[in-house]
Amino acid sequence: MSGIPSVGIHDIAFATAHYVLDLDDLARHRGVDPAKYHVGLGQDAMSVPAADEDIVTMAAAAAAPILRRHGTDNLRTVLLATETAVDQSKAAALYLHPLLDLPSTTRLVELKQACYSGTAALQFAAGLIARDPAERVLIITSDIARYDLDSPGEPTQGAAAVAMLVTADPAILQLDSASGLYCEDVMDFWRPNHRSTAIVDGELSVRTYLTATGRAWADYRMRGGRTLEEFAAFCYHLPFTTMARKAHRNLLGTLGAEWEPERIERLLRDSTRYNRLIGNSYTASLYLGLLSLLDHAPDLTDRAVALFSYGSGCVSECFSGIVRPGYRQHLRTAENRDRIAARTAMTYGRYRALHAGHDARYGIDHVLDPDTGSPYRLTEITGDKRIYQKA
Ligand code: CAA
Repeated sequence: MSGIPSVGIHDIAFATAHYVLDLDDLARHRGVDPAKYHVGLGQDAMSVPAADEDIVTMAAAAAAPILRRHGTDNLRTVLLATETAVDQSKAAALYLHPLLDLPSTTRLVELKQACYSGTAALQFAAGLIARDPAERVLIITSDIARYDLDSPGEPTQGAAAVAMLVTADPAILQLDSASGLYCEDVMDFWRPNHRSTAIVDGELSVRTYLTATGRAWADYRMRGGRTLEEFAAFCYHLPFTTMARKAHRNLLGTLGAEWEPERIERLLRDSTRYNRLIGNSYTASLYLGLLSLLDHAPDLTDRAVALFSYGSGCVSECFSGIVRPGYRQHLRTAENRDRIAARTAMTYGRYRALHAGHDARYGIDHVLDPDTGSPYRLTEITGDKRIYQKA
């Protein structure tokens, strides 16, 4: 960044939910051709939280390895981005304070704008670090994508958290200074306070996503951003993985660029691998895509990566970064793959019961039996107070 030290992602880690539902099971029970999910939406499975998991337990599990590696020196800000808030007032980040042994000199805040707010957190962190390059900011994006049972959105559900340590002179991805924005007040996807599942106008949401990412790209270029040809890979917000292909084709179309389908697939493939197995994770989805790219792509040292953030409603941002030499030494690739493979397969019946049970417990005191294998769990809700425990 001009006049300030380089800023970017120094460490990145993720967590997902305890259970996994194979989309073949969902397709069979819904009487849908499985190819619609695997090929049409590009989804093979979805993570499903246990009853004693939520965005706080996933956020803690994602952030813990980063804090184990880097400690909390100079960590004065924790930004938790989510659209699965557990409270209308108290920031979910506060529950992390005891779970992660954070210093009492920490600014803990929750940010919301649908799937976009993790990107706002990243830009806010860059601003804080520009003011004091010794500071480090922990960002956690954590979400559970829930739609009504039997709705079109159901096969795109998922759950994950991605934590990122943002610092000066980062070890993994150095952010470029240019970024492009687009916003518009539109009702394509939203979740009123009284609902636990999102309301969505599917066709409008896809159309608005395409418009918004295209317009954000145009603003990015106007503000001195890189050209298409400079990028080794493109990471898109992934409500379902084939959305990236739609978005990239749309972008190329607006620019009059003609790329072979194989070239498009090659540039998108590695960033979509984790999402295909986990499903949508709203704020975490773009950064899970970046992690997937870093974990799977051939050496990206000194190569540019484009990132497209989209949050319904809508705000979109296009930005970019350069992958740092030696980045691979800082990844946890084997651990990440193991974490996905270690999820517990669930039956369709168990999935339906968990989905329905979520709303049945709303506003009622209850104690939760241990279910998740995560070191962090929600143990009870009593007097509307959420009680968490770490193993
Ligand atoms: N074999 C192969 N492909 C098949 C198929 C089969 N048997 N049957 C259908 N398909 C294809 C369709 O042709 C279609 O592909 P194209 O889009 O390339 O034409 C694809 O599978 C999906 O089929 P439909 O469009 O018929 O699917 P649908 O209407 O049942 O549901 C959806 C699609 C509306 C996106 C739904 O999944 C949904 O509501 N999702 C939630 C909203 C969403 O994800 N919106 C995305 C943008 S908003 C955003 O990004 C924010 C966010 O995170 C939510």
